[in-house]
Amino acid sequence: MTSSTNQVYPVIWHNNAVSLIDQTRLPNEYAFVEIHRSEDMAQAIKTMIVRGAPAIGVAAAYGMYLGAREIETSDRHQFLDRLDQVAQLLRSTRPTAVNLFWAISRMMKAAYETLGTVDEIKQILFQTAQSINVEDLQTCQAIGDRGLAVLPNTPEKLTILTHCNAGALATAGYGTALGVVRSAWREGRLARLFADETRPRLQGAKLTTWECVQEGIPVTLITDNMAAHCMKQGLIDAVVVGADRIAANGDAANKIGTYSLAIVAKSHNIPFFVAAPLSTVDFELSDGGKIPIEERNPEEIYQIGDTLITPSGIDYYNPAFDVTPAELITAIITENGAFAPANLAKSHLKQIR
Ligand code: MRU
Repeated sequence: MTSSTNQVYPVIWHNNAVSLIDQTRLPNEYAFVEIHRSEDMAQAIKTMIVRGAPAIGVAAAYGMYLGAREIETSDRHQFLDRLDQVAQLLRSTRPTAVNLFWAISRMMKAAYETLGTVDEIKQILFQTAQSINVEDLQTCQAIGDRGLAVLPNTPEKLTILTHCNAGALATAGYGTALGVVRSAWREGRLARLFADETRPRLQGAKLTTWECVQEGIPVTLITDNMAAHCMKQGLIDAVVVGADRIAANGDAANKIGTYSLAIVAKSHNIPFFVAAPLSTVDFELSDGGKIPIEERNPEEIYQIGDTLITPSGIDYYNPAFDVTPAELITAIITENGAFAPANLAKSHLKQIR
């Protein structure tokens, strides 16, 4: 839904169902898909009608409620068993973004901790899904504002480079990396955003630029292989990206291509920030080597749009994410403040600013 302030909400509860902005059709078409069943929600996550780590979490939370609503028993044990199957289905959709697993666990916990009737559990599940949605929006606004404190002081107006789409579309609204960009724009600290196109699915070209156009944020689109050249020319003051899962040591998984961006930023002395909610931090994983990396189908790299660009049937490798080592990250910007990656585990105690 876009409002008069051009805010974008990719997942909303409306008319007793979930309305998702169909992100596979942007920017050509701004259309909604109505989801009534948990299976359809699982499919929407898999096919990336809804995508971006926090948005997947919000969608999965509603998917859990839709699944709960489908269960026709008043027996608590049977209900919880069937709900567990819904959780398994939703968990199987995409492996890397930990927000998905975080949201499902929070929904399961809410169900198990409610001692009332099955109807009461269903009601609690609905309220929990709504809370996850609302909280994520507030969290993103906090991330955006916290990010302002760590951006370079000079020049007065910054040019920021981002990768993929870590915007309103990828969250409940406002965005993480784009949340920082939005806050900088609001405070008069942003000259321009550079957006990597982000092969193979082009989330930067299709979604990030679309969001900027909605808000009048000046944006320059580049292809992924132009970033080093732009940095060498002195066009970029800071890089801000999102994350799908951050390990306890600060290694951060994000859209494929993020790692090489961090390397070139380092070699040009340009600060490299990861903006993400604390729900993206997987404290159970000691380092990024343990983060499961999704591999997607070959059509994404065989084709541009519907046009085949390769000889047919060639061998392929299509990892959707890579892991940026903590030592390449200047700071991780969360809703609680910005932390040096090494201090992430003590995130409640040590803030950079
Ligand atoms: O495959 P996608 O489009 O779901 O990947 C999205 C990203 O990599 C985002 O940068 C990440 O989820 C952060 S979203 C705030």
